[in-house]
Amino acid sequence: MGDSGIWLGIDLGTSGVKTVMMDADQTVVASAGAALTVSRPHPGWSEQEPDHWWTAAQETLDALAKTEPARMAAVRGIGLSGQQHGATLLGANDRPLRPCILWNDGRASEECEILDTRADFRGICGNVLMPGTTAPKLEWVRRNEPDVFDLTARVLLPKDYLRLCLTGEALSDMSDSAGTLWMDVAARTWSDTLLAAGGLTEAAMPGLVEGSSPAGRLRPELAARWGMKTAPVLAGGGGDNAASAAGVGAVRPGTGFVSLGTSGVLFVSTDGFAPNTTDAIHAFCHAVPDVWHQMGVILSATDSLNWLARMTGQAPAALTAAVDPGTPATAPLTFLPYLSGERTPHNDAGARGAFVGIAQSTEVADLTRAVLEGVAYAFADCYDALRSAGTALDRVYAVGGGARSDAWVQIIADATGVPLHHPPAGDFGAAFGAARLGYCAAEGADPREYCSPAPIDATVTPDPAHAAYHQERLDRYRALYPGARRAMA
Ligand code: XUL
Repeated sequence: MGDSGIWLGIDLGTSGVKTVMMDADQTVVASAGAALTVSRPHPGWSEQEPDHWWTAAQETLDALAKTEPARMAAVRGIGLSGQQHGATLLGANDRPLRPCILWNDGRASEECEILDTRADFRGICGNVLMPGTTAPKLEWVRRNEPDVFDLTARVLLPKDYLRLCLTGEALSDMSDSAGTLWMDVAARTWSDTLLAAGGLTEAAMPGLVEGSSPAGRLRPELAARWGMKTAPVLAGGGGDNAASAAGVGAVRPGTGFVSLGTSGVLFVSTDGFAPNTTDAIHAFCHAVPDVWHQMGVILSATDSLNWLARMTGQAPAALTAAVDPGTPATAPLTFLPYLSGERTPHNDAGARGAFVGIAQSTEVADLTRAVLEGVAYAFADCYDALRSAGTALDRVYAVGGGARSDAWVQIIADATGVPLHHPPAGDFGAAFGAARLGYCAAEGADPREYCSPAPIDATVTPDPAHAAYHQERLDRYRALYPGARRAMA
Protein backbone atom coordinates (compact mmCIF):
# COMPACT_ATOMS: atom_id res chain seq x y z
CA MET A 1 0.00 0.00 0.00
CA GLY A 2 1.43 3.34 -1.06
CA ASP A 3 4.68 1.56 -2.00
CA SER A 4 4.96 3.31 -5.31
CA GLY A 5 4.22 6.69 -3.78
CA ILE A 6 1.41 8.94 -2.58
CA TRP A 7 0.75 12.59 -3.49
CA LEU A 8 -1.36 14.92 -1.37
CA GLY A 9 -3.67 17.69 -2.51
CA ILE A 10 -4.74 20.29 0.06
CA ASP A 11 -7.62 22.58 -0.90
CA LEU A 12 -8.23 25.59 1.33
CA GLY A 13 -11.89 26.39 0.61
CA THR A 14 -14.09 29.01 2.21
CA SER A 15 -16.13 26.50 4.20
CA GLY A 16 -13.31 24.09 5.01
CA VAL A 17 -9.97 22.48 4.23
CA LYS A 18 -9.99 19.22 2.30
CA THR A 19 -6.92 17.01 1.91
CA VAL A 20 -6.85 14.05 -0.47
CA MET A 21 -4.32 11.24 -0.92
CA MET A 22 -3.73 10.18 -4.53
CA ASP A 23 -1.88 7.00 -5.52
CA ALA A 24 0.24 6.22 -8.58
CA ASP A 25 -2.91 5.26 -10.56
CA GLN A 26 -4.32 8.76 -9.97
CA THR A 27 -6.95 7.33 -7.65
CA VAL A 28 -8.02 9.18 -4.52
CA VAL A 29 -7.51 6.57 -1.82
CA ALA A 30 -8.29 8.62 1.29
CA SER A 31 -9.35 12.09 2.29
CA ALA A 32 -9.97 14.21 5.38
CA GLY A 33 -11.75 17.50 5.96
CA ALA A 34 -11.99 20.21 8.62
CA ALA A 35 -14.61 22.96 8.70
CA LEU A 36 -14.03 26.73 8.62
CA THR A 37 -16.40 29.58 9.36
CA VAL A 38 -16.62 33.04 7.82
CA SER A 39 -16.93 36.12 9.97
CA ARG A 40 -19.05 39.02 8.70
CA PRO A 41 -18.30 41.92 11.07
CA HIS A 42 -20.17 44.41 8.84
CA PRO A 43 -22.72 43.98 6.03
CA GLY A 44 -20.82 43.08 2.87
CA TRP A 45 -17.61 42.14 4.73
CA SER A 46 -16.20 38.62 4.78
CA GLU A 47 -13.11 37.61 6.78
CA GLN A 48 -11.23 34.60 8.16
CA GLU A 49 -8.32 34.22 10.56
CA PRO A 50 -5.29 32.83 8.69
CA ASP A 51 -4.36 30.75 11.74
CA HIS A 52 -7.72 28.98 11.53
CA TRP A 53 -6.70 27.77 8.05
CA TRP A 54 -3.44 26.44 9.43
CA THR A 55 -5.20 24.70 12.34
CA ALA A 56 -7.72 23.14 9.94
CA ALA A 57 -5.00 22.00 7.51
CA GLN A 58 -3.05 20.41 10.36
CA GLU A 59 -6.23 18.65 11.54
CA THR A 60 -6.65 17.01 8.12
CA LEU A 61 -3.01 15.92 8.02
CA ASP A 62 -3.04 14.67 11.62
CA ALA A 63 -6.19 12.67 10.81
CA LEU A 64 -4.64 11.08 7.71
CA ALA A 65 -1.42 10.32 9.61
CA LYS A 66 -3.55 8.46 12.13
CA THR A 67 -5.84 6.54 9.76
CA GLU A 68 -3.38 6.02 6.86
CA PRO A 69 0.11 5.75 8.39
CA ALA A 70 1.56 3.52 5.65
CA ARG A 71 0.35 5.81 2.89
CA MET A 72 1.47 8.89 4.79
CA ALA A 73 4.98 7.41 5.02
CA ALA A 74 5.00 7.20 1.20
CA VAL A 75 4.07 10.84 0.45
CA ARG A 76 6.38 12.24 -2.25
CA GLY A 77 4.69 15.47 -3.29
CA ILE A 78 2.05 17.95 -2.10
CA GLY A 79 -0.05 20.37 -4.13
CA LEU A 80 -1.98 23.34 -2.77
CA SER A 81 -5.21 24.86 -4.00
CA GLY A 82 -7.15 27.68 -2.41
CA GLN A 83 -9.90 30.23 -2.42
CA GLN A 84 -8.62 33.07 -4.56
CA HIS A 85 -8.01 36.79 -3.99
CA GLY A 86 -7.87 36.84 -0.14
CA ALA A 87 -5.55 39.54 1.25
CA THR A 88 -3.37 38.05 4.00
CA LEU A 89 -1.19 40.81 5.45
CA LEU A 90 1.89 39.75 7.38
CA GLY A 91 4.26 41.77 9.55
CA ALA A 92 8.06 41.53 9.52
CA ASN A 93 7.83 38.41 11.71
CA ASP A 94 5.53 36.77 9.12
CA ARG A 95 2.59 36.85 11.55
CA PRO A 96 -0.87 37.97 10.30
CA LEU A 97 -1.60 41.62 11.11
CA ARG A 98 -5.39 41.34 10.76
CA PRO A 99 -7.99 38.80 9.55
CA CYS A 100 -7.77 37.96 5.86
CA ILE A 101 -10.23 39.92 3.67
CA LEU A 102 -11.84 37.24 1.49
CA TRP A 103 -12.82 36.90 -2.19
CA ASN A 104 -16.50 37.58 -1.45
CA ASP A 105 -15.90 40.75 0.57
CA GLY A 106 -17.45 43.83 -1.05
CA ARG A 107 -16.00 46.70 1.01
CA ALA A 108 -13.46 47.98 -1.50
CA SER A 109 -15.66 49.46 -4.27
CA GLU A 110 -14.41 53.00 -3.88
CA GLU A 111 -10.83 51.76 -3.88
CA CYS A 112 -11.40 50.17 -7.31
CA GLU A 113 -12.29 53.57 -8.70
CA ILE A 114 -9.27 55.18 -7.03
CA LEU A 115 -6.78 52.60 -8.35
CA ASP A 116 -8.31 52.85 -11.82
CA THR A 117 -7.24 56.49 -12.00
CA ARG A 118 -3.67 55.68 -10.97
CA ALA A 119 -2.58 53.00 -13.44
CA ASP A 120 -3.76 51.10 -16.50
CA PHE A 121 -4.96 47.99 -14.66
CA ARG A 122 -7.15 46.85 -17.57
CA GLY A 123 -4.30 47.17 -20.05
CA ILE A 124 -1.55 45.57 -17.94
CA CYS A 125 -3.35 42.85 -16.00
CA GLY A 126 -6.23 42.51 -18.47
CA ASN A 127 -8.87 42.51 -15.76
CA VAL A 128 -11.33 44.95 -14.27
CA LEU A 129 -10.65 46.01 -10.70
CA MET A 130 -13.39 44.45 -8.56
CA PRO A 131 -13.79 44.60 -4.78
CA GLY A 132 -13.29 40.81 -4.69
CA THR A 133 -9.76 41.02 -6.11
CA THR A 134 -6.72 41.66 -3.91
CA ALA A 135 -5.34 45.04 -5.04
CA PRO A 136 -8.33 47.19 -3.93
CA LYS A 137 -8.38 45.42 -0.56
CA LEU A 138 -4.83 46.59 0.16
CA GLU A 139 -5.86 50.10 -0.87
CA TRP A 140 -8.78 49.85 1.57
CA VAL A 141 -6.36 48.91 4.36
CA ARG A 142 -4.05 51.74 3.35
CA ARG A 143 -6.92 54.25 3.63
CA ASN A 144 -8.74 52.82 6.65
CA GLU A 145 -6.07 51.04 8.70
CA PRO A 146 -2.88 52.98 7.85
CA ASP A 147 -0.99 51.55 10.84
CA VAL A 148 -1.62 48.02 9.57
CA PHE A 149 -0.60 49.01 6.05
CA ASP A 150 2.64 50.55 7.31
CA LEU A 151 3.52 47.37 9.19
CA THR A 152 2.81 45.12 6.18
CA ALA A 153 6.00 43.37 5.10
CA ARG A 154 4.35 40.69 2.97
CA VAL A 155 1.04 40.00 1.25
CA LEU A 156 0.09 36.39 0.57
CA LEU A 157 -2.90 34.61 -0.92
CA PRO A 158 -4.66 32.13 1.39
CA LYS A 159 -3.08 28.91 0.10
CA ASP A 160 0.35 30.56 0.12
CA TYR A 161 -0.02 31.36 3.80
CA LEU A 162 -0.45 27.61 4.29
CA ARG A 163 2.71 27.07 2.22
CA LEU A 164 4.57 29.49 4.47
CA CYS A 165 3.46 27.46 7.50
CA LEU A 166 4.30 24.16 5.79
CA THR A 167 7.67 25.08 4.26
CA GLY A 168 8.81 28.46 5.61
CA GLU A 169 8.89 29.81 2.04
CA ALA A 170 6.97 32.72 0.52
CA LEU A 171 6.09 31.54 -2.99
CA SER A 172 3.00 31.58 -5.18
CA ASP A 173 1.83 30.22 -8.52
CA MET A 174 0.73 32.14 -11.61
CA SER A 175 -2.99 31.28 -11.61
CA ASP A 176 -3.69 32.44 -8.08
CA SER A 177 -1.35 35.43 -8.31
CA ALA A 178 -3.08 36.68 -11.47
CA GLY A 179 -6.17 37.21 -9.27
CA THR A 180 -4.34 39.83 -7.20
CA LEU A 181 -4.44 42.17 -10.25
CA TRP A 182 -0.80 43.08 -9.56
CA MET A 183 0.52 40.90 -12.39
CA ASP A 184 1.37 41.50 -15.99
CA VAL A 185 -0.71 38.45 -16.88
CA ALA A 186 0.56 38.12 -20.47
CA ALA A 187 4.20 38.15 -19.29
CA ARG A 188 3.53 36.02 -16.16
CA THR A 189 5.45 38.46 -13.90
CA TRP A 190 4.62 40.97 -11.17
CA SER A 191 3.97 44.45 -12.54
CA ASP A 192 5.99 47.17 -10.79
CA THR A 193 3.59 49.76 -12.21
CA LEU A 194 0.47 48.14 -10.75
CA LEU A 195 2.13 47.47 -7.38
CA ALA A 196 3.35 51.07 -7.22
CA ALA A 197 -0.22 52.31 -7.83
CA GLY A 198 -1.07 50.85 -4.41
CA GLY A 199 2.13 51.95 -2.64
CA LEU A 200 3.64 48.45 -2.81
CA THR A 201 6.78 46.90 -4.27
CA GLU A 202 7.77 43.43 -5.37
CA ALA A 203 9.61 43.01 -2.06
CA ALA A 204 6.22 42.40 -0.40
CA MET A 205 5.25 39.77 -2.99
CA PRO A 206 6.02 36.05 -2.95
CA GLY A 207 8.32 34.60 -5.62
CA LEU A 208 6.38 33.32 -8.66
CA VAL A 209 6.53 29.76 -10.00
CA GLU A 210 4.35 27.73 -12.36
CA GLY A 211 1.64 25.68 -10.63
CA SER A 212 3.18 22.38 -11.68
CA SER A 213 6.74 23.34 -10.65
CA PRO A 214 8.42 22.77 -7.27
CA ALA A 215 7.77 25.52 -4.70
CA GLY A 216 9.24 24.63 -1.32
CA ARG A 217 9.75 21.47 0.68
CA LEU A 218 7.84 20.39 3.80
CA ARG A 219 9.65 21.35 7.02
CA PRO A 220 11.50 18.26 8.33
CA GLU A 221 9.78 18.48 11.73
CA LEU A 222 6.33 18.38 10.08
CA ALA A 223 7.36 15.46 7.84
CA ALA A 224 8.47 13.63 11.01
CA ARG A 225 5.24 14.52 12.85
CA TRP A 226 3.15 13.03 10.03
CA GLY A 227 5.39 9.98 9.65
CA MET A 228 6.68 10.78 6.15
CA LYS A 229 9.87 8.95 5.21
CA THR A 230 11.28 11.96 3.38
CA ALA A 231 10.16 15.58 3.40
CA PRO A 232 8.04 15.95 0.23
CA VAL A 233 8.30 18.75 -2.30
CA LEU A 234 5.38 21.18 -2.70
CA ALA A 235 4.05 22.29 -6.08
CA GLY A 236 3.18 25.90 -6.86
CA GLY A 237 -0.43 24.68 -6.98
CA GLY A 238 -3.28 26.87 -8.13
CA GLY A 239 -6.22 29.07 -7.33
CA ASP A 240 -9.15 26.76 -6.66
CA ASN A 241 -10.64 27.22 -10.11
CA ALA A 242 -7.40 26.50 -11.98
CA ALA A 243 -6.78 23.56 -9.62
CA SER A 244 -10.30 22.24 -10.33
CA ALA A 245 -9.47 22.51 -14.03
CA ALA A 246 -6.33 20.43 -13.42
CA GLY A 247 -8.52 17.95 -11.52
CA VAL A 248 -11.12 17.50 -14.23
CA GLY A 249 -8.45 17.68 -16.93
CA ALA A 250 -9.40 21.03 -18.48
CA VAL A 251 -5.87 22.20 -19.23
CA ARG A 252 -6.01 22.30 -23.03
CA PRO A 253 -7.49 25.28 -24.89
CA GLY A 254 -11.27 25.06 -25.33
CA THR A 255 -11.82 22.73 -22.38
CA GLY A 256 -13.51 23.97 -19.25
CA PHE A 257 -16.24 23.57 -16.69
CA VAL A 258 -19.31 25.04 -15.12
CA SER A 259 -18.87 24.94 -11.35
CA LEU A 260 -21.94 25.10 -9.12
CA GLY A 261 -20.42 25.94 -5.76
CA THR A 262 -20.93 28.83 -3.34
CA SER A 263 -19.84 30.96 -6.28
CA GLY A 264 -20.63 29.86 -9.83
CA VAL A 265 -17.83 29.74 -12.36
CA LEU A 266 -17.73 29.22 -16.10
CA PHE A 267 -14.06 28.40 -16.79
CA VAL A 268 -12.31 27.80 -20.09
CA SER A 269 -8.62 27.26 -20.87
CA THR A 270 -7.08 29.45 -23.58
CA ASP A 271 -3.78 29.10 -25.45
CA GLY A 272 -3.02 32.79 -25.01
CA PHE A 273 -3.89 35.67 -22.75
CA ALA A 274 -7.43 36.68 -23.81
CA PRO A 275 -8.91 39.56 -21.83
CA ASN A 276 -12.45 40.99 -22.16
CA THR A 277 -12.72 43.79 -19.65
CA THR A 278 -15.96 45.17 -21.14
CA ASP A 279 -17.96 42.23 -19.83
CA ALA A 280 -15.99 41.84 -16.60
CA ILE A 281 -14.59 38.39 -17.28
CA HIS A 282 -11.44 37.28 -15.52
CA ALA A 283 -8.47 36.49 -17.76
CA PHE A 284 -5.80 34.78 -15.67
CA CYS A 285 -2.81 32.46 -16.07
CA HIS A 286 -3.57 28.74 -15.77
CA ALA A 287 -1.83 26.51 -13.22
CA VAL A 288 0.16 24.86 -16.04
CA PRO A 289 2.85 26.64 -18.11
CA ASP A 290 1.99 28.49 -21.34
CA VAL A 291 -1.76 28.22 -20.80
CA TRP A 292 -4.14 30.94 -19.65
CA HIS A 293 -7.82 30.83 -18.82
CA GLN A 294 -10.95 32.92 -18.81
CA MET A 295 -13.65 32.84 -16.17
CA GLY A 296 -17.07 34.30 -15.78
CA VAL A 297 -17.81 34.42 -12.04
CA ILE A 298 -21.21 34.74 -10.38
CA LEU A 299 -21.08 35.33 -6.66
CA SER A 300 -24.15 33.41 -5.41
CA ALA A 301 -24.79 30.05 -7.10
CA THR A 302 -25.56 27.36 -4.50
CA ASP A 303 -25.60 30.26 -2.06
CA SER A 304 -28.86 31.42 -3.71
CA LEU A 305 -30.45 28.01 -3.26
CA ASN A 306 -29.09 27.78 0.30
CA TRP A 307 -30.72 31.12 1.06
CA LEU A 308 -34.10 29.83 -0.19
CA ALA A 309 -33.58 26.64 1.84
CA ARG A 310 -33.02 28.75 4.96
CA MET A 311 -36.09 30.85 4.25
CA THR A 312 -38.36 27.86 3.67
CA GLY A 313 -36.87 25.47 6.24
CA GLN A 314 -36.35 22.81 3.56
CA ALA A 315 -33.10 21.10 2.52
CA PRO A 316 -31.64 22.28 -0.84
CA ALA A 317 -31.82 18.71 -2.23
CA ALA A 318 -35.51 18.45 -1.26
CA LEU A 319 -36.22 21.74 -3.02
CA THR A 320 -34.49 20.77 -6.28
CA ALA A 321 -35.99 17.25 -6.27
CA ALA A 322 -39.41 18.83 -6.88
CA VAL A 323 -38.29 20.62 -10.09
CA ASP A 324 -39.01 19.03 -13.48
CA PRO A 325 -36.96 20.88 -16.12
CA GLY A 326 -38.96 19.12 -18.87
CA THR A 327 -42.13 21.02 -18.02
CA PRO A 328 -41.86 24.78 -18.60
CA ALA A 329 -42.94 26.97 -15.69
CA THR A 330 -46.22 28.72 -16.34
CA ALA A 331 -45.78 31.58 -13.87
CA PRO A 332 -43.68 34.53 -15.15
CA LEU A 333 -41.51 34.53 -12.05
CA THR A 334 -37.92 35.80 -12.25
CA PHE A 335 -35.14 35.57 -9.68
CA LEU A 336 -32.03 37.76 -9.77
CA PRO A 337 -29.21 35.96 -7.89
CA TYR A 338 -27.32 39.10 -6.84
CA LEU A 339 -27.52 38.39 -3.09
CA SER A 340 -23.85 39.38 -2.62
CA GLY A 341 -23.57 41.65 -5.68
CA GLU A 342 -22.28 40.37 -9.00
CA ARG A 343 -19.03 40.12 -10.92
CA THR A 344 -19.63 38.93 -14.53
CA PRO A 345 -20.98 40.74 -16.50
CA HIS A 346 -22.02 43.64 -14.23
CA ASN A 347 -19.08 44.18 -11.85
CA ASP A 348 -21.54 45.55 -9.30
CA ALA A 349 -20.76 44.73 -5.66
CA GLY A 350 -23.79 46.78 -4.60
CA ALA A 351 -26.38 44.89 -6.69
CA ARG A 352 -28.90 42.89 -4.67
CA GLY A 353 -31.24 40.02 -5.50
CA ALA A 354 -34.96 40.03 -6.29
CA PHE A 355 -37.99 37.92 -7.07
CA VAL A 356 -40.22 39.60 -9.62
CA GLY A 357 -43.66 38.25 -10.50
CA ILE A 358 -44.83 36.80 -7.18
CA ALA A 359 -48.60 36.14 -7.16
CA GLN A 360 -51.09 34.88 -4.56
CA SER A 361 -50.75 31.49 -6.20
CA THR A 362 -46.92 31.33 -5.94
CA GLU A 363 -45.68 28.19 -4.17
CA VAL A 364 -42.24 27.24 -2.83
CA ALA A 365 -41.79 25.02 -5.92
CA ASP A 366 -42.23 28.11 -8.15
CA LEU A 367 -39.65 30.04 -6.11
CA THR A 368 -37.21 27.12 -6.35
CA ARG A 369 -37.57 26.88 -10.09
CA ALA A 370 -37.05 30.63 -10.41
CA VAL A 371 -33.85 30.38 -8.32
CA LEU A 372 -32.44 27.55 -10.47
CA GLU A 373 -33.34 29.48 -13.63
CA GLY A 374 -31.93 32.76 -12.29
CA VAL A 375 -28.55 31.12 -11.66
CA ALA A 376 -28.73 29.48 -15.11
CA TYR A 377 -29.32 32.90 -16.70
CA ALA A 378 -26.34 34.28 -14.80
CA PHE A 379 -24.31 31.48 -16.45
CA ALA A 380 -25.84 32.45 -19.82
CA ASP A 381 -24.54 35.98 -19.24
CA CYS A 382 -21.06 34.54 -18.47
CA TYR A 383 -21.20 32.41 -21.61
CA ASP A 384 -22.07 35.39 -23.78
CA ALA A 385 -19.20 37.34 -22.21
CA LEU A 386 -16.74 34.54 -23.05
CA ARG A 387 -18.11 34.25 -26.58
CA SER A 388 -17.70 37.95 -27.18
CA ALA A 389 -14.03 37.51 -26.20
CA GLY A 390 -13.85 35.08 -29.14
CA THR A 391 -13.71 31.94 -27.01
CA ALA A 392 -15.06 28.60 -28.18
CA LEU A 393 -15.99 25.92 -25.66
CA ASP A 394 -15.32 22.37 -26.90
CA ARG A 395 -15.74 20.27 -23.79
CA VAL A 396 -17.42 21.58 -20.66
CA TYR A 397 -17.85 19.55 -17.48
CA ALA A 398 -20.40 20.21 -14.74
CA VAL A 399 -18.73 20.14 -11.33
CA GLY A 400 -19.38 21.30 -7.76
CA GLY A 401 -22.00 20.36 -5.18
CA GLY A 402 -24.92 21.89 -7.11
CA ALA A 403 -24.13 19.69 -10.15
CA ARG A 404 -25.58 16.76 -8.21
CA SER A 405 -29.01 18.17 -9.13
CA ASP A 406 -29.85 16.75 -12.59
CA ALA A 407 -32.66 19.29 -12.90
CA TRP A 408 -30.32 22.23 -12.32
CA VAL A 409 -27.69 20.99 -14.80
CA GLN A 410 -30.42 20.42 -17.44
CA ILE A 411 -31.76 23.94 -16.92
CA ILE A 412 -28.24 25.39 -17.29
CA ALA A 413 -27.65 23.35 -20.48
CA ASP A 414 -31.03 24.49 -21.87
CA ALA A 415 -30.48 28.15 -20.92
CA THR A 416 -26.93 28.36 -22.32
CA GLY A 417 -27.22 25.91 -25.21
CA VAL A 418 -23.98 24.25 -24.03
CA PRO A 419 -23.82 20.43 -23.59
CA LEU A 420 -22.52 19.66 -20.09
CA HIS A 421 -20.55 16.53 -19.24
CA HIS A 422 -20.70 14.76 -15.90
CA PRO A 423 -17.44 13.15 -14.82
CA PRO A 424 -17.92 9.72 -13.19
CA ALA A 425 -18.67 9.57 -9.47
CA GLY A 426 -15.45 10.17 -7.56
CA ASP A 427 -13.10 12.95 -6.78
CA PHE A 428 -12.23 15.33 -9.63
CA GLY A 429 -12.24 18.55 -7.61
CA ALA A 430 -9.69 21.17 -6.62
CA ALA A 431 -7.95 18.99 -4.01
CA PHE A 432 -7.46 16.24 -6.61
CA GLY A 433 -6.17 18.83 -9.10
CA ALA A 434 -3.74 20.03 -6.45
CA ALA A 435 -2.54 16.44 -5.90
CA ARG A 436 -2.00 16.12 -9.67
CA LEU A 437 0.08 19.32 -9.63
CA GLY A 438 1.95 17.92 -6.61
CA TYR A 439 2.78 14.84 -8.67
CA CYS A 440 4.02 16.92 -11.61
CA ALA A 441 6.28 18.98 -9.33
CA ALA A 442 7.69 15.96 -7.49
CA GLU A 443 8.11 13.62 -10.47
CA GLY A 444 8.82 16.11 -13.25
CA ALA A 445 5.75 15.00 -15.28
CA ASP A 446 4.33 17.17 -18.09
CA PRO A 447 1.08 18.58 -16.63
CA ARG A 448 -0.61 18.76 -20.05
CA GLU A 449 -0.18 15.01 -20.42
CA TYR A 450 -0.61 14.04 -16.78
CA CYS A 451 -3.80 16.09 -16.13
CA SER A 452 -5.78 14.09 -18.70
CA PRO A 453 -9.48 14.89 -19.21
CA ALA A 454 -11.86 13.07 -16.87
CA PRO A 455 -13.93 10.39 -18.60
CA ILE A 456 -17.47 11.43 -19.49
CA ASP A 457 -20.04 9.51 -17.49
CA ALA A 458 -23.11 11.22 -18.93
CA THR A 459 -23.80 14.25 -21.13
CA VAL A 460 -26.67 16.64 -20.53
CA THR A 461 -27.69 17.96 -23.95
CA PRO A 462 -29.63 21.20 -24.40
CA ASP A 463 -33.22 20.45 -25.34
CA PRO A 464 -34.09 22.56 -28.44
CA ALA A 465 -37.77 22.41 -27.47
CA HIS A 466 -36.98 24.69 -24.53
CA ALA A 467 -34.79 27.23 -26.33
CA ALA A 468 -37.56 29.78 -27.02
CA TYR A 469 -38.92 29.49 -23.47
CA HIS A 470 -35.50 30.23 -21.99
CA GLN A 471 -34.73 33.02 -24.45
CA GLU A 472 -37.91 34.83 -23.41
CA ARG A 473 -37.13 34.38 -19.71
CA LEU A 474 -33.50 35.38 -20.22
CA ASP A 475 -34.62 38.60 -21.93
CA ARG A 476 -36.89 39.38 -18.98
CA TYR A 477 -34.07 38.55 -16.52
CA ARG A 478 -31.70 40.91 -18.32
CA ALA A 479 -34.29 43.69 -18.50
CA LEU A 480 -34.76 43.56 -14.71
CA TYR A 481 -31.11 44.16 -13.77
CA PRO A 482 -31.35 47.99 -13.77
CA GLY A 483 -33.79 47.73 -10.84
CA ALA A 484 -31.25 45.75 -8.81
CA ARG A 485 -28.20 47.83 -9.80
CA ARG A 486 -26.12 49.25 -6.97
CA ALA A 487 -29.01 48.75 -4.55
CA MET A 488 -26.49 49.06 -1.69
CA ALA A 489 -24.63 52.07 -3.11
C1 XUL B 1 -12.84 33.32 -8.32
C2 XUL B 1 -13.39 33.46 -6.96
C3 XUL B 1 -14.02 32.29 -6.30
C4 XUL B 1 -13.14 31.77 -5.21
C5 XUL B 1 -13.89 30.71 -4.45
O1 XUL B 1 -12.45 34.51 -8.89
O2 XUL B 1 -13.35 34.48 -6.35
O3 XUL B 1 -14.34 31.28 -7.22
O4 XUL B 1 -11.93 31.33 -5.74
O5 XUL B 1 -13.09 29.99 -3.63
